[in-house]
Amino acid sequence: MLCIFVVLLSEGCILALSKNTTFPAIIVFGDSIVDPGNNNYISTIIKCDFAPYGRDFQGGKPTGRFSNGKVPSDFAAEFYGIKELLPAYLDPNLNLQDLLTGVSFASGGAGYDPLTSKIVSVLSLSDQLELFKEYKEKIKLAMGEEQTTNFLSKVLFIICTGSDDIANTYFTTPFRRAHYDIDSYTNLTISSASQFFQELYGEGARRIAILGLPPIGCVPSQRTLGGGKQRGCVEAANRAATLFNSKLSAQVDSLKKSLPGLKTVYNDIYNPLLSIIQNPQKYGFEEANKGCCGTGNIEVSILCNQLSNHKTCKDASKFVFWDSYHPTEAAYKILSSVILNQHLNDLL
Ligand SMILES: *[C@@H]1O[C@H](CO)[C@@H](O)[C@H](O)[C@H]1NC(C)=O
Ligand SMILES: *[C@@H]1O[C@H](CO)[C@@H](O)[C@H](O)[C@H]1NC(C)=O
Repeated sequence: MLCIFVVLLSEGCILALSKNTTFPAIIVFGDSIVDPGNNNYISTIIKCDFAPYGRDFQGGKPTGRFSNGKVPSDFAAEFYGIKELLPAYLDPNLNLQDLLTGVSFASGGAGYDPLTSKIVSVLSLSDQLELFKEYKEKIKLAMGEEQTTNFLSKVLFIICTGSDDIANTYFTTPFRRAHYDIDSYTNLTISSASQFFQELYGEGARRIAILGLPPIGCVPSQRTLGGGKQRGCVEAANRAATLFNSKLSAQVDSLKKSLPGLKTVYNDIYNPLLSIIQNPQKYGFEEANKGCCGTGNIEVSILCNQLSNHKTCKDASKFVFWDSYHPTEAAYKILSSVILNQHLNDLL
């Protein structure tokens, strides 16, 4: 309130306020691609709060981000001029200002399929939504009920999950494959995704960006497990991701029509990442088929650790993948800028 008055008087304050404020905050739900360290505070084996994770993060800090540096949720906050890093909601050191500019509820290993999160004891989307309700109560205490509704209607929500449903639950464990083919399994995950989007809308979200799946079959671990001697991309996993993406994109269109006031977009990450993997040199990379950590063929999470350090690459910025599953900060940076420029105006 005070600053609005000052604007009239002081050039300095006008400058301070005319900072890019497209969205007041960014709130994220999802999996390891956008988890800045929530898994540090829960009991699961899906963790990475140890070296060499975070090797290039502000002087080498393992924060629980599943990369050598920043992840896409950080780049989103930076892109919109909100803040440099998007923190994990479970971080006990957050203050009110941190909450008011946005947090991530994402949990590495989570999926749209509730079974995916359950298998590895991480925060399911319903757990993440419960935490969001707690967050909302804190915001309400600070700004009151009416302002909270208004605030939430302006916040950018980003949802990024689903890879682990296909890569882990469907193709690696037997639980779902025994009962579902890929068409019916993607229907199951889409229906739980749709339910989540509607619940989030019910909680006041009005601007929602929904990220599709990457070419899962081309991540190093999938190549190792199913790509034969040549470690080629696993076509079945890529087909599953493509099928899921087409259903997700259709679902997003249908929600846009049925939920009044909702602005939502589907963001394609499949094609941008595939393009980087197929033409690494064009984007400044030297290696796209192996991760930087350890041998690069299989290490991820607890397997990517100090013991593998003698094999870990020297310069991660030359690699598309940091471990056998997650891109490097350098690849995330390129991907994030492609994604953030897709359909931007549809969310304003
Ligand atoms: C705010 O940021 C968005 C995304 O970078 C950009 O498209 C827009 O032009 C910026 N607006 C201002 C006023 O700087
Ligand atoms: C999946 O959903 C689509 C669209 O609702 C439907 O046409 C199709 O029959 C479903 N497939 C299975 C195997 O249930």
